Amino acid sequence: MQFFKSRQAVHDFVQSHKKKDKTVGFVPTMGALHEGHIQLIKKSKLQNHITVVSIFVNPTQFNNQADYHKYPNHIKNDTEKLEQVGCDVLFHPDVEEMYPVPDHRKFDFGELEQMMEGAYRPGHFNGVAQIVSKLIEAVPAQKAYFGQKDFQQLAIVRKLVGDYNYPVEIIGCPTVRESDGLAMSSRNERLTSAQRQNAPVIYQSLLQAKKMYPEKNINEIKKYVVENINKIPEFNVEYFEIVDHYTLRPIHSPQSDKYVTACIAVYVQDVRLIDNINFF
Ligand code: PAJ
Repeated sequence: MQFFKSRQAVHDFVQSHKKKDKTVGFVPTMGALHEGHIQLIKKSKLQNHITVVSIFVNPTQFNNQADYHKYPNHIKNDTEKLEQVGCDVLFHPDVEEMYPVPDHRKFDFGELEQMMEGAYRPGHFNGVAQIVSKLIEAVPAQKAYFGQKDFQQLAIVRKLVGDYNYPVEIIGCPTVRESDGLAMSSRNERLTSAQRQNAPVIYQSLLQAKKMYPEKNINEIKKYVVENINKIPEFNVEYFEIVDHYTLRPIHSPQSDKYVTACIAVYVQDVRLIDNINFF
């Protein structure tokens, strides 16, 4: 595996392979790699000659500085996992490399950023857009892979790429789960064993909500999900929304002919977990 820390070096590497008619797939990550990331990498490997993974914990997308400082760093382990899966290139820049000067750019995603993660994590998607635009410019791949686990982020990235005409195709990939249903996340390792044992309640509640839709009304479904999770000690639902899959507008009455997705954020003490489920 090739290893780059500089934007220019990874850019030159990718361009030289594209000149030789090779296709390049790109998987941006913040490291602490788990099977969710690995599935994105495997998909890229199936669809491209060369796969580039970036590991960069992006300070500008953390609205909570404590969360940034607690973000796991497992670079040695991650490098081994990348070697094992057959990743071709690791791009692992430091903060000065990505932000030699402060990034003052303000992105406008309209209503896509006004609810859910956008509402509860002010500035988060602006930071995501700052880094994703820089990463896509540094790694000019033909395809980039993102997980549906971060459902709203995927919508924002698609909008960013559309608005700025970035010549990259965004490939959305299904959420990878633990055998008990918990969506894989780098934050899961911060759960105590009791919290971890209870954590599948999140996906179980989403599955139950899917069963209730569209027969039950939206408020009934919301009440069920919130109560079912909040009754567990230390679990607190921050939001649960049932939204149009494409516009992300909240659905107020069940419309069985619509593409609908339910999204949730739950605090387990100070660990914030998100998940979602398509109702189609
Ligand atoms: P990170 O949380 O490391 O996730 C990197 C990619 O892996 C994202 O596209 C995310 O949606 C995907 N992913 C995470 N858990 C997954 C799971 N259980 N199943 C499927 N895919 C999963 O998302 C980020 O990093 C950052 O915001 C980033 C896009 C890299 C910008 O800094």
